[in-house]
Amino acid sequence: MRVLVTGGAGFIGSNFIRHFLTAHPDSEVVNFDLLTYAGNLENLRELEHEPRYEFVKGDIADDKSVTNVMRDVDAVVNFAAESHVDRSIHDPRAFIRTNVLGTQVLLTAARERDVSRFVQVSTDEVYGSLGPTGAFTEETPLAPNSPYSASKAAADMLVRAAFHTYRAPVIVTRCSNNYGPFQFPEKLIPLMIANALEGKPLPVYGDGMNVRDWIYVGDHCEAIDRVLEAGRPGEIYNVGASNERPNLDIVRRILSELKKPESLITYVKDRPGHDRRYAIDSTKIQRELGWKPKHSLDDGLRETVQWYLDRRAWWERIRTGEYLAYYKKQYGSDAT
Ligand code: NAD
Ligand code: TYD
Repeated sequence: MRVLVTGGAGFIGSNFIRHFLTAHPDSEVVNFDLLTYAGNLENLRELEHEPRYEFVKGDIADDKSVTNVMRDVDAVVNFAAESHVDRSIHDPRAFIRTNVLGTQVLLTAARERDVSRFVQVSTDEVYGSLGPTGAFTEETPLAPNSPYSASKAAADMLVRAAFHTYRAPVIVTRCSNNYGPFQFPEKLIPLMIANALEGKPLPVYGDGMNVRDWIYVGDHCEAIDRVLEAGRPGEIYNVGASNERPNLDIVRRILSELKKPESLITYVKDRPGHDRRYAIDSTKIQRELGWKPKHSLDDGLRETVQWYLDRRAWWERIRTGEYLAYYKKQYGSDAT
């Protein structure tokens, strides 16, 4: 099988490509990525000379290059997106272009090229915010609250329409918050690890009691692989590992793992429209496809902290230029 992976130079996409090529020795991957600030070919350096792997630089919102790259492809997994909520609050335009228009361009080309499977990697954030109890199921109505989640929900609707209108072989996955190796240090866990290692303040939004449901990236990649293999067209599969934690709890664990003082925690202005709580019910994928997560939060976090300790050069190289300009805009101070 030859799979087109879009956004494969980012966090989850690069982990997925590594997993997929190892798990399927007869398969090939084409990684199509625009290399925005979040895309980094260093994430896949060890595959540079792998004959089953090809990188093509391009934009999923550009019809011509998408139609070209989709030649001889059996399946598509769409990771390409603008993915950071805070950036979407500053300026949603790139989110609409890539996440909405880009998804439609991919769907159209996939239909023209008769691609036999299309997995849209979506997010639990399309369901909006939960009260103190309950969890999102695939039937929970969509109620996105940020420009990021609204753009992902719009993409999900286009995928739904492709199934109902053209019987396109499309499947949507909606996963909770990922963490693990190669996550860009603008997201909570890698940002807190990097700041703690540099003795910088750890900016916690609001009261630090917003709850996220964490999953190790490798477990998410295995879920996508199962969906690609055995998911039913037209279906949605929630993916999560039932690790709900308030942000403050995660930040304290990181500090304790690194033996750094809690005095580094700094409460900052809350994110506008900040979703209070996410929790995913992943019964459907567990029952139907036999997937289940393998990493406990304790083990996954420990491994992740160790990875950022071992790969300091990776994240230090990122924390320059555009990153510093973004950091200043978001937090009103320098990251370095
Ligand atoms: P990321 O920001 O790390 O990576 C996104 C990748 O997409 C980058 O390599 C970037 O260069 C590429 N890209 C951006 N615009 C593009 C365009 N127009 N054309 C081609 N490539 C483009 O994101 P991530 O955290 O790896 O997330 C991947 C996907 O998973 C996204 O669709 C996101 O919505 C979804 N998701 C993420 C999480 C999470 O916790 N990170 C959870 C659930 C779902
Ligand atoms: P994030 O990693 O941006 O993921 P998402 O917003 O998609 O869930 O944020 C995770 C949680 O951490 C969210 O509740 C916002 C919070 N947060 C902070 O408190 N401080 C920060 O500097 C960042 C980036 C996030």
